[in-house]
Amino acid sequence: MIKDLRAYLDYLRSKSRLAVVKDEVGTELEITALTDTANRARKYDSKTLMFSNVQGYDMPVVTSLFGSSNTLSELLGSFSISDTVMSILHPQQAGGAGSMLKGAKAFIDSKPKVESFSANGYRKLGGLDELPVLKSWPNDAGKFITLPIVVTNSYDDGSLNAGVYRMQVFDDVTTGMHWQAQKGGALHAYEAAKRGKALKVSVAIGTDPFNILSAATPLPQGINEFAFAGMARGSRTTLVKDGDYPPVPANSEIIINGYVEPDERRMEGPFGDHTGYYSIPEPANVLHIDKIYAKKDAVYPASVVGFPWNEDAVIGLFMMQYLKPMISLVNDSIIDIYLPPEGLFTDVCFIKVKKRFPGEAKKAMFSVLGLGQLSFIKMIVAMDDDIDITDLGRVLWAMATRVEPERDVQIIKGTPTDTLDHTANTVAYGSKMLIDATKKSRGEGYGRDWPDTISLPKGVMDDAVKRWQKLK
Ligand SMILES: Cc1cc2nc3c(=O)[nH]c(=O)nc-3n(C[C@H](O)[C@H](O)[C@H](O)COP(=O)(O)O)c2cc1C
Repeated sequence: MIKDLRAYLDYLRSKSRLAVVKDEVGTELEITALTDTANRARKYDSKTLMFSNVQGYDMPVVTSLFGSSNTLSELLGSFSISDTVMSILHPQQAGGAGSMLKGAKAFIDSKPKVESFSANGYRKLGGLDELPVLKSWPNDAGKFITLPIVVTNSYDDGSLNAGVYRMQVFDDVTTGMHWQAQKGGALHAYEAAKRGKALKVSVAIGTDPFNILSAATPLPQGINEFAFAGMARGSRTTLVKDGDYPPVPANSEIIINGYVEPDERRMEGPFGDHTGYYSIPEPANVLHIDKIYAKKDAVYPASVVGFPWNEDAVIGLFMMQYLKPMISLVNDSIIDIYLPPEGLFTDVCFIKVKKRFPGEAKKAMFSVLGLGQLSFIKMIVAMDDDIDITDLGRVLWAMATRVEPERDVQIIKGTPTDTLDHTANTVAYGSKMLIDATKKSRGEGYGRDWPDTISLPKGVMDDAVKRWQKLK
């Protein structure tokens, strides 16, 4: 049982996935440089780095907590959100009524426990200058907290949201809140502002891996991320509540409490982001910090992003794998979906379609654009079920041999886009490109007979393979 961040670090150590850097390093650029180098070298199986000797701070810094896809599989491999949902929506397919009850029970049992906060075991900090916050890239506007769990409650229905949104340190007691317009935290700030009220915000930095991963998972709005963490962990999350600040995990290393005023904005960025570019500065909400607590021997976690490939690519690939059965559940035209990391998870998407009727590939692409954070996707390519959509060579072949641009490429104007997409004329508002790279039928207006792909009879092929074995 991984009960907190230290237990998680022990677990990584036991798997030889933790490297301790004992040399003195600075929080400006140096930690990024080593982390970025390590992530790029090992891609799917990067090591977590622990910097035990950080210039000017007693607190160690850890980076790449989720750099290894093996770790993610071990943590979450046996839990399937899709199975749980399937067992409720499609009990016959998932194993009958017993399975439905099991799924429903898992949902109910995962409700977080809430206790009142006690400062025992914590020390109160005077300001953010006591935390080893990183400045990652040379032209960053300053230091950014990059792995915070930001917790808010809705004024409309009281529901809780937890998301990982970077926080730019403006000074010791104020930060920027980079929650993108469509994300849970921003929606709660919007609801508060409509009432002219301040929004109370709590931030947890460093907790067990299930809480962090849940906060980073694009769950539907209204689903409590800590309940989801409880299901994934197999035991309920314990939260602690300090007065009227939103609750945070009881095992948090660092807790920040504060508030966001309704009409206050400050320029946030530039920040060297996972796009490989610096973000364009934009106005952002401002967090005023009332209190900061840190465990007596707290560990400070940070995530380094930059030109792909980094930790976010490992997290993104795993999450897509993890969540994709849900997509087929919502739209059975979609057999598979792949977001190549270099397409930044928000910009390029390949789908494999079960094509049974004219226009089904388009139906499938439209539905992707309506699904939560997949609505950020800028370009979708739909392909038939004979294409391995994870193989870029096959994807290009499908595009070359199945796309007639005038007929098969659609541009949809005036749509929401990722706020990080600097190509859009205006922030968070742009267009989509849908490419139908499936074989066309007469029902779709194709006036000729679509040619067959080339292949040899199995017997002839088997003989050829045997002969080739001898020649090799
Ligand atoms: C390391 C890391 C940094 C992130 N930074 C941001 C960010 O600055 N702003 C943002 O809107 N999303 C950011 N995300 C993505 C969100 O955490 C993710 O979209 C999550 O689903 C948001 O929660 P929500 O759906 O409850 O809003 C980041 C994710 C990771 C893993």
